[in-house]
Amino acid sequence: MSSSPVQQAASKRRTFAIISHPDAGKTTLTEKLLYFGGAIQMAGSVKSRKTDRHATSDWMEMEKERGISVTSSVMQFPYRDRIVNLLDTPGHADFSEDTYRTLTAVDSALMVIDSAKGVEERTIKLMEVCRLRDTPILTFVNKLDREGREPIELLDEVETILNIQCAPITWPIGMGKGFKGIFHLLNDSMHIFEPHSKEAGEIIEGLDNPRLDELFGSMAEDLREEIELVRGASHEFDLDEFLAGRLTPVFFGSAMNNFGITELMDSFVEYAPPPQPRETKTREVDATEEAFSGFVFKIQANMDPKHRDRIAFLRVCSGKYTKGMKLHQARIGKDVTIANAVTFMAAEREQAEEAYPGDILGLHNHGTIQIGDTFTQGEALQFTGIPYFAPELFRRVRLKDPLKNKALLKGLQQLSEEGATQLFRPLDNNDLILGAVGVLQFDVVVHRLKGEYNVECAYEAVQVYTARWVYCDDVRKLEEFKKKASQNLALDGAGNLTYIAPTRVNLDLTMERWPDIDFRATREHL
Ligand code: G4P
Repeated sequence: MSSSPVQQAASKRRTFAIISHPDAGKTTLTEKLLYFGGAIQMAGSVKSRKTDRHATSDWMEMEKERGISVTSSVMQFPYRDRIVNLLDTPGHADFSEDTYRTLTAVDSALMVIDSAKGVEERTIKLMEVCRLRDTPILTFVNKLDREGREPIELLDEVETILNIQCAPITWPIGMGKGFKGIFHLLNDSMHIFEPHSKEAGEIIEGLDNPRLDELFGSMAEDLREEIELVRGASHEFDLDEFLAGRLTPVFFGSAMNNFGITELMDSFVEYAPPPQPRETKTREVDATEEAFSGFVFKIQANMDPKHRDRIAFLRVCSGKYTKGMKLHQARIGKDVTIANAVTFMAAEREQAEEAYPGDILGLHNHGTIQIGDTFTQGEALQFTGIPYFAPELFRRVRLKDPLKNKALLKGLQQLSEEGATQLFRPLDNNDLILGAVGVLQFDVVVHRLKGEYNVECAYEAVQVYTARWVYCDDVRKLEEFKKKASQNLALDGAGNLTYIAPTRVNLDLTMERWPDIDFRATREHL
């Protein structure tokens, strides 16, 4: 049976994101991937890193950065016979809830670890988000050209801290000044490292190849022993375990030196899953269905300062998009014609002619699209699994002109629907508390309130550790809880009951005291 164009296109797509702690090498690796995929001529043009690195409150600076970073917020490039979509996960100053939500729109993720630093805090958080959907994870250990930690120790750390089994696919021989290259455990071949060389290093087939003795002399025997040991002691790669998110294939190399990346990408396109089925409130949608469907996972504002437009990023889940198509926006029950969606080819925004499952579309948004919105060809579907995440940073909003309260509320309401921040209104007083996961989100809100709603405000510190959404089927228990804990309860932007915990100890004690109440760290959008 011949397959349809949608089935063919879907089977070729691989949509993923990189998760890492700042400075592990995500940007460098992204450049090399695009370079390998033929998407850019010269590695080194993804974005200006230095400006990206420093937190800045300067709005102009932010606009400039965002102008640059949007072109790289989704990158599509061919690799072998696949079409790869790489979704950027803002990581430095621009770390935000978008970073988390982007991970709900991918089918796999690549974890990059600095070989000297091991598993770092941001990586742990991002892994937790991947866990919500059991997303398959590949691992790249970077910077082997520098002195780092023993590879065995690094794998151990990944296994214990991140609770995922490691199956090395390549294995490093030496490190730093003594870095000799990587051995491919499945292909039984050694790739020799030649620093600062534009040529790909020599590949030596077979562990018993005499060429190894020629190159390494007496060290060749140590190398053979080490490889045998690693083969015996480590987990074997198992595709099903990987696809279930329980085992990660591990690769070693140096992004800066373009080394170990071919091995990584060859395995990536072979193992990483094509667009996966997605849950909706009513049924599961398969990527190969002919009818179009997709959901919005991120909204970005003011990308082009000349046009104060907002772009809604939509992940295509099934079917085919063609230019000028009429789509049904399920939440408001309206049909809209999508004439000028953008796609993100090779670091350039282009007008989309067509898009398939796994691809990302940018829809122009004039305030009618919210995070989590589903678009279909008519069926009333609502995709699930695009949650709000409990904020980790909080500020109290102070209005400079009290007469502007109404405009402030309207602005905050809309900005929270767009996912720029989260709003909490305590039951017991008139405070307005904003929550975020990245500190720059607060600056964005102040500037957008001024620019778009003509409201000036500032922030005050507030003693909040975290927020938890409160659920309970037992109405009487819930009423009792509301009465007893009212000083710590608030409504979020959509009117949901939230527990605002001043300290971690307070949260733990409250959860202990109220075992029938469900305190959730995520909440579905609709
Ligand atoms: P990030 O996006 O994850 O934050 O990391 P980024 O790629 O910006 O890399 C962080 C630093 O690590 C950069 O150095 C980069 O050059 C360096 N780096 C990346 N890959 C490797 C590698 O394989 N080996 C070594 N030795 N270094 C690597 P920087 O000095 O902070 O910036 P730059 O001046 O090089 O831009």
